[in-house]
Amino acid sequence: MQGERVHVFDAIEPLNEAAARRVRECAAEAVADHGAFHVALAGGQTPVGVYQTLRGLDGFPWQRTHVYLGDERSVPPDHEDSNYRMARESLLDHVPVPAGQVHPVDTDLPPEKAAARYGELLEASLPRGADGRPRFDLVLLGMGADGHVASLFPDTDILRHRKRLVAAVYVDKLDAWRISLTLPVINAARHVALLVAGAKKADVVRHVFHAGAEAAPLPVQRVQPEEGVEWFLDAEAGRYVRGRI
Ligand code: 6PG
Repeated sequence: MQGERVHVFDAIEPLNEAAARRVRECAAEAVADHGAFHVALAGGQTPVGVYQTLRGLDGFPWQRTHVYLGDERSVPPDHEDSNYRMARESLLDHVPVPAGQVHPVDTDLPPEKAAARYGELLEASLPRGADGRPRFDLVLLGMGADGHVASLFPDTDILRHRKRLVAAVYVDKLDAWRISLTLPVINAARHVALLVAGAKKADVVRHVFHAGAEAAPLPVQRVQPEEGVEWFLDAEAGRYVRGRI
């Protein structure tokens, strides 16, 4: 895996600690480079421990941090399934990020409109990479057992976008609309970190690290930022790759 850095931890606690410190490193680098840190948070449950650990780290430039969501469910912001609610409860309600620098998806809008608005926000807010494209300093991702990241599920139209930064996608197997970053903006990120834990992810992790060239790579295999992905795995998710990569 060209450029990939893979960490496998004995338990979730050291994973949370290492990932939180890496987020702080990315923040310090970004602030030193351009005075701000623009980060897209992962949804789901795996990142909760990382966000709770982040709360306790000294020297984090919260005042210079701009927080976005990598994807969002099309539900109200206080809904139990809301990634924004999860991020607020595990992190944002406990750190001094200026309110105007926290950017939830406007899920009061219909999904397509919410995605369009979020894309406009990224266009207006993100720094530009050398190629002139909007660039996150860090995108945090989780991964499903089917190899999805953000709301980029296998065999969904959202995977085809080459220019749009954000799109809405109806996920048949969830019978639900999602709003998600697209591959182009994820792959333009300065850093991408994948947080993967639990035995149910072990088979897909093995597939990713031991698959040859594939006709139909999984969404996670299409996450190919310039510097490569940094993986944070616990022992269960990394059981087939530990010591073999
Ligand atoms: C979401 C996430 C999604 C998540 C994976 C893994 O909105 O659900 O963005 O991509 O990261 O489904 O979820 P867990 O961390 O809960 O296993």
